Amino acid sequence: MSPSPAPPAAVPPGPAAGPAPTTDGGGGQECCGIILAGGSGTRLWPVTTPVCKQLLPVYDKPMVYYPLSVLMLAGVRDVLVISTPEDLGRFERLLGDGSQLGCRFSYLAQPRPEGLAQAFTLGARFIGGRRTALVLGDNIFHGTALRTRLRAAAAADGAVIFAYHVADPTRYGVVVFDPSGRPERVVEKPAEPISSFAVPGLYVFPGDVADVAAGVRPSARGEYEITDVINAYLERGELEVTILDRGTAWLDTGTFTSLMQAAQYVQVVEERQGLKVGCPEEVAWREGYIDDAQLAALAEPLRRSGYGEYLMGLVAGRRAWEAP
Ligand code: G1P
Repeated sequence: MSPSPAPPAAVPPGPAAGPAPTTDGGGGQECCGIILAGGSGTRLWPVTTPVCKQLLPVYDKPMVYYPLSVLMLAGVRDVLVISTPEDLGRFERLLGDGSQLGCRFSYLAQPRPEGLAQAFTLGARFIGGRRTALVLGDNIFHGTALRTRLRAAAAADGAVIFAYHVADPTRYGVVVFDPSGRPERVVEKPAEPISSFAVPGLYVFPGDVADVAAGVRPSARGEYEITDVINAYLERGELEVTILDRGTAWLDTGTFTSLMQAAQYVQVVEERQGLKVGCPEEVAWREGYIDDAQLAALAEPLRRSGYGEYLMGLVAGRRAWEAP
């Protein structure tokens, strides 16, 4: 009888754990990340009067954990958090300098919420000519092929955006495709439903994005629109649109209803699977950014909420899988 195969490795071996703040999108080129977590959150007032939306809970963790996990899954470990002058200190208290997750986090204030494209002009020094992933602090993504898609986007050459079929496209920027399926243009919140494919708040741009964004003029609603940055790359023939299929969840959290729905989604998946959605500590550990001892140290102060117990369980489970 042939020897029984080794138990499946639930945790793929990652790079050696350690606080190396380098970034690698998978193709060897450096890709940094920006989380834009500003805005006034007026659609959630009075809840967001004392604290910004991206720090509100989505079930069992702060909203910003979800987009942060997405960047980390993409292999991005050098992250700039942009928020309001009032909230920036709160993000820093929550996330620290990132070394505890084998990453590097820095912080920058956006004095006024004047549009998503401002993230690149404000963050020009941080970007320093590197390929840059921007994720909005209130966007939640979850799905099987996500990691592969994210890593491909981080390692590509041109700009990469995503497209997602939604029931209410007029609430978003949308991609209009030509008959051959190529992207024709991106339109911000079209009055008429001209496409069912919304553009989620996750974008990857080449190293010249700060220069491109600096050329954008304010729109009729007075904002520096991300769609103008996207269209600049489209006109240069350097835009790739990746469709996130129906097996992926892209959730919005901008209203009381969508915030509640996102929390319910996370609760249902987590309770059913016993696995967390959008847990940066777990991503750091699975990707090999931190080791067992570092994960256990992060877990210890969080034990009473159950969050730490979960992290401890990962460490214990991994040991069991590795047992002969
Ligand atoms: C922004 C972008 C829009 C994009 C959306 C995704 O809209 O302008 O193109 O589809 O994020 O969440 P806003 O949230 O500012 O309304």
